[in-house]
Amino acid sequence: MVRIGIIGGSGVYHLIEDSELRRIGTPFGLAYVYLGEFGDEEIAFIPRHGKKHDIPPFKVNYKANIYALNMLGVERIIASNAVGAINPKLKLGTIILPHDFIDLTKCRDSTFYDGKTEIIVRGRNIEGVIHVSMTPYTYCPEIRSALANASNQLGIHLIDRGVYVCTEGNRFETPAEIKAMAIMGGDIVGMTGCPEAALARELAICYASISIVTNYAAGIGGREKLTHQEVLDVFSRRLEDVSKLLARSIPLIPRERSCACKDALAEFLK
Ligand code: HPA
Repeated sequence: MVRIGIIGGSGVYHLIEDSELRRIGTPFGLAYVYLGEFGDEEIAFIPRHGKKHDIPPFKVNYKANIYALNMLGVERIIASNAVGAINPKLKLGTIILPHDFIDLTKCRDSTFYDGKTEIIVRGRNIEGVIHVSMTPYTYCPEIRSALANASNQLGIHLIDRGVYVCTEGNRFETPAEIKAMAIMGGDIVGMTGCPEAALARELAICYASISIVTNYAAGIGGREKLTHQEVLDVFSRRLEDVSKLLARSIPLIPRERSCACKDALAEFLK
């Protein structure tokens, strides 16, 4: 059994080295999962945008990816993603652990429970249309505190709260959209955090995400133009710290889960 899954965003490809590619067929299509060692732990790694970074955010097969991890027995997922700062107090390069999200995507297939597909979670079937809860915690508190503790131990600055807003993309936002998101309570904006986080909850898999602030969002900080290259450049400068954080946090995640995520399906399991 592989306990931990890592879903890497733009720039996080080094975990592929020395790992074995497994093509995993799921009811939702193929997932490309790399199995390897990270520290002392066997992990399943998915580069979200493909090995050659040729899958845009709206084309990522989120359902196949999360279901494949479920099929491998993964109980905990740590994801990473690049984000723009809506909150002007955030500095470029900051690592932030969102505690909540607002999903503004428009065209994504965002549930496993479509009333037709039989879903199997840890050997048990779930049928029909069910609605999982995103409370009391949107993201797994046990993974989030392992990441926060790892950052303390390593002396890597991390902000352990923030509201992540997910947009459909593929373009960056307009200044008016960012203003609206700020009024809604958003701190950071990205294109890949949803439906990924909710799909993990739908299979009772713990999920938390590390976001790296790569730029100020449209209209914040008086910037003229935002480019994808800028996003990649800032991300790559923080990659080493992100890797260290991942490596240090994994052993700090308790083997036995005590969080509410594990019980997300308790009332629906037959
Ligand atoms: N907007 C949306 N997605 C992003 C951004 C942004 O400003 N930066 C990195 N991913």
